This record gives sequence, C-alpha cells and structure tokens, in this order.
Amino acid sequence: MKLFIDTADVAQIKEAWSWGIVDGVTTNPSHVAKTGRPAAAVYRDICGIVDGPISLETISLTAPEIVAEGRELTKYSRNVVVKVVNNREGLKAVKILSAEGIKTNVTVTFSPVQALLAAKCGASYISPFVGRLDAHGHFGMDLVRQIKTIYGNYGFKTEIIVAAVRHPIHVLESALAGAHIGTMNFDVLKQLYEHPLTDIVTQQFLNDWKTVPKE
Ligand code: E4P
Repeated sequence: MKLFIDTADVAQIKEAWSWGIVDGVTTNPSHVAKTGRPAAAVYRDICGIVDGPISLETISLTAPEIVAEGRELTKYSRNVVVKVVNNREGLKAVKILSAEGIKTNVTVTFSPVQALLAAKCGASYISPFVGRLDAHGHFGMDLVRQIKTIYGNYGFKTEIIVAAVRHPIHVLESALAGAHIGTMNFDVLKQLYEHPLTDIVTQQFLNDWKTVPKE
C-alpha cells in the first residue's frame, strides 16, 4: 500500500519525504491557501522534492477550462497528476485528459456510482473522502470497500486513494480493504509510527543494558 502526504506545506513534505515511507503528495486549494504563498511557487517546490505522483487540483468549472488548466499543471513536472472534482464537467475533462495520456485524480467523491463514472472516463485515481463521510454519520470505509468491489467486478485499473484520513484506524482499514493508497496529513503520518509499548519496552531494554557488567 502506498502512502501519500496530503498537504501543500513544503517543510512538512520535505521532512516526511526523508522518512522513506511516503510515495507521493496530494494537494488541494485549501492546502495551498494555508501556505499564504503563490500556488506556482508552492508547486515548483513540491516538484523539486518529491519523485512520485503529485496531485495538483484544478479550480475551473467547465470541461474545456479544466482541460486547459490540467495541461498547464502538467508543465510543472512529469509526476503531476491533475486533480479534478467529481461532477459532470469534471468527468468530461477527465475523459479528454486521460485520452491524452495525462494522469488524473478524481476528487471529492462520496458515492460508489460517482466512482464508477470516474473509472469509465479513464481516471487514474479515485479519491473517496472517508473522514468527511464519518463526520456525517456514514461509515466512510464502506465506500472504499464498495468501490473496490465495483472496480474488481469490471477490471477497472483506477487506483483508490483513501482521502480525508483522520487517524491510523483509517489506514489500517484501507490496507485491510486492499485500497492502493492512503493520503493523510503530517500528524497522522507521524502517528503511524507510534505505539506506547514500543517506547516502554525500548526503555526497559536500555535500562537493562546499563546493568550488563563492563569488561
Ligand atoms: C485529498 O486528496 C484531499 O486533499 C483531502 O484528503 C481532503 O480532505 P479534508 O479536507 O477533509 O482533510
């Protein structure tokens, strides 16, 4: 299973990339806005750090404009994946971009039939937003499992990026469901390493080592 970092914070991306467990980056307009920097500068920095898929999101609303914006975004790096919102105009654009060999990540996905449509249009990746569904009283991971079943039934190659990940249990469930990728913020990535027993037992070993007689 691949892990992506979901942020536009260049310092966090640099740090997480150095850990050796991060395979790619997803950004969105809110993440870029939080940096307080021009998008172009942020995108250039990210592309200079990460050698893996980097999702950059389009903000246009009509298919021709999304296509034009997507083509521009691919100029930042060969690793750019054009992120497109899951609606009718977005999927029209995905069909065109994928026919041109441009990778796409269909985002803001909340239903299995939306995911089916995205795959039919040739989406490279689908991003179901599990944490946001959980927040509305749905089982977000059920959506991931349903997409996995639908894609398996028809042999779609679209990869599932579990998005809006809030905690390590989302990552565990994604892995058990066979999702290809999980994308999460810096803090959740750090949490994946943590277990209090690891700290306690490590300390116990170090303490015991101090009692070993010196030669
Ligand atoms: C994924 O690609 C999105 O950027 C992200 O997961 C959005 O989720 P959130 O805004 O609910 O955290």
